Amino acid sequence: MPELRRLRPQPDDRIAFFQGFLKRPKEVGSILPSSRFLERRIIRGAELTRAKTIVELGPGTGGITRAILRAAQPDARVLVIEINERFAEVLKRMHDPRLIVHQGDASDIAGALAVHGLGAPDVILSGIPFSTMQRQTGREILYSVHDALQDGGIFIAYQVRDRVASLGRELFGRARVQTEILNVPPMRVYCWRKGEPRPESKRRRHRLIRRGRPTPRA
Ligand SMILES: C[S@@+](CC[C@H](N)C(=O)[O-])C[C@H]1O[C@@H](n2cnc3c(N)ncnc32)[C@H](O)[C@@H]1O
Repeated sequence: MPELRRLRPQPDDRIAFFQGFLKRPKEVGSILPSSRFLERRIIRGAELTRAKTIVELGPGTGGITRAILRAAQPDARVLVIEINERFAEVLKRMHDPRLIVHQGDASDIAGALAVHGLGAPDVILSGIPFSTMQRQTGREILYSVHDALQDGGIFIAYQVRDRVASLGRELFGRARVQTEILNVPPMRVYCWRKGEPRPESKRRRHRLIRRGRPTPRA
């Protein structure tokens, strides 16, 4: 079993996160790591007790990663894909046998899975800040998520703004949304299940009809 001490956040991790934000504010997207309230909300939606392969995108210094490891089965594999080399080093200190740290870009999830001999994930969780990146880059990451995820698999993205919802709608349909106010800043949690297109809300259907666009239904 993993050493519990290593599964606890260390004070240095917060400093490393803040320094990472100062160096690359748009890429990191947030001054503080996620709160434990947000962690719990994300984990509740992810159905991790049934998952064998879990992928986390943009783990930062590992707050959500620790919550995933606490909830995941002893035989699960948790692949975390982090672009920032300093954060990847911090993550490698966790030493949980289920954890695989991959320093790389979330737009190539299939490549990362192949390098580590893993199959299609049951769950993908993302903390990547879609609203501070180019739309096209965000779209590439979402295609990478959609291509990699198992049919019926869950995709969760937590975000301050709703850019991911409009990009994600093109591929996954409408998201279920919750808001966690006990986080700095308050965060929306978007959840999709691959292959389960949800009908547009009545309000949005009317808006699309007024603009003369087709209105996808389930
Ligand atoms: C808002 S932080 C989330 C950190 C952590 N998951 C948390 O909740 O505290 C966003 C993270 O996404 C990472 N990131 C941004 N773009 C990325 C990309 N294209 N591929 C992988 N990681 C990326 C950043 O380096 C940063 O660690």
